[in-house]
Amino acid sequence: MIYLDHAATTPVAKEVLKAMEPYFSQMYGNASSLHSPGQEARKAMEEARESVAKLINADPDEIVFTSGGTESDNLAINGAGFHVFARFRKEGKKPHIITSRIEHPAILETCRHLEGIGFEVTYLKVDKEGMVDPKELEKAIKKTTILASIMHANNEIGTIEPIGEIAKVCRKHLVLFHTDAVQTFGKLPIDVKKLGIDLLSASGHKLYGPKGVGCLYVRRGVKLAPQAHGGGHEKGIRSGTENIAGIVGFGKACELAMGDMKKESSRLENLRKRLVREVLKMPNSRLNGHPTKRLPGNANFTFDFIEGESLLLRLDSRGIAASTGSACSTKKLAPSHVLTAIGLKVEETHGSLRLTLGRQTKGKDIDFTIKAIREEVEALRKMSPLKR
Ligand SMILES: Cc1ncc(COP(=O)(O)O)c(C=O)c1O
Repeated sequence: MIYLDHAATTPVAKEVLKAMEPYFSQMYGNASSLHSPGQEARKAMEEARESVAKLINADPDEIVFTSGGTESDNLAINGAGFHVFARFRKEGKKPHIITSRIEHPAILETCRHLEGIGFEVTYLKVDKEGMVDPKELEKAIKKTTILASIMHANNEIGTIEPIGEIAKVCRKHLVLFHTDAVQTFGKLPIDVKKLGIDLLSASGHKLYGPKGVGCLYVRRGVKLAPQAHGGGHEKGIRSGTENIAGIVGFGKACELAMGDMKKESSRLENLRKRLVREVLKMPNSRLNGHPTKRLPGNANFTFDFIEGESLLLRLDSRGIAASTGSACSTKKLAPSHVLTAIGLKVEETHGSLRLTLGRQTKGKDIDFTIKAIREEVEALRKMSPLKR
């Protein structure tokens, strides 16, 4: 199998698995227990926290472990929102949040939920390459704006947003800035201090760590209302017995990412450039997202006159795992909100294909994929009622 769906998830690295293994049945203590097994677990967790923090130049006590990207996004938005909600309501005001139209559903659905209970949300437009304009964001800021949440890079089209500039605008207006960095954490250099980020979400399974673990970076001084009440774990922000094995794995994955980020991202970028160059030689095919400011391993194409799902299934039967990058992440056949936001017509969104490269992708895999895409697109077009 040639696995080209690394934006969906990645295999657990063998070093990560090895680091995790003892924490299931040998060193299984509860990190809150005072006995030695408990303290052993706590020590492992705190070491992992250091590795995670180091990757983004945060301090370890600014890392809150969660169950993954979705929970981190929810905690950032709800946590910031509910911290001020009661006060705003007393004053007869609605807290205002700014986000973009191309965010992950973990952000968009959380914002929609908050709108339903008395928040106000602005969903910023993006340009045809998927870029948020920091000037537009600044224009949207009001006296009641408490938070802006703009993703670091988009999971479908790979566009990297100008989060440094956006953070500056937010700081100037005393608005908290959250970024969903699930797709960039461990892939692109991030310095939360230099960038001026207040809150940042990450997920273990996108960087060769396990599923079900992630973190929220919470800049020291930023106040969040807890979203899981209980025993007061994670400084009271996120109660629940810590997933030590998962956290250890996440920490190891961060160490590995730190070691090979530069080399790996330029290797992936070269492979992706070759893939894009060759695929775009086919007529009626386009690249979605920004041509250069994009995730190194992300290619998202639109092929006219065909259905992305049919292409995906044909590629799958040839041993290539891809994604339509459109409709069907949740099995509903609605067009992708990201592709629609960058201006694609509904029929164009249906002809899209996302290929996301990763550590095990080799040059020969790319050559095989280029050939397979050419042949399958051609075959599908021959059958297509849309192509005259
Ligand atoms: C940009 C982005 N945010 C959030 C998530 C959700 O992360 P998790 O799967 O860890 O809940 C994903 C996963 O696809 C993502 O790509």
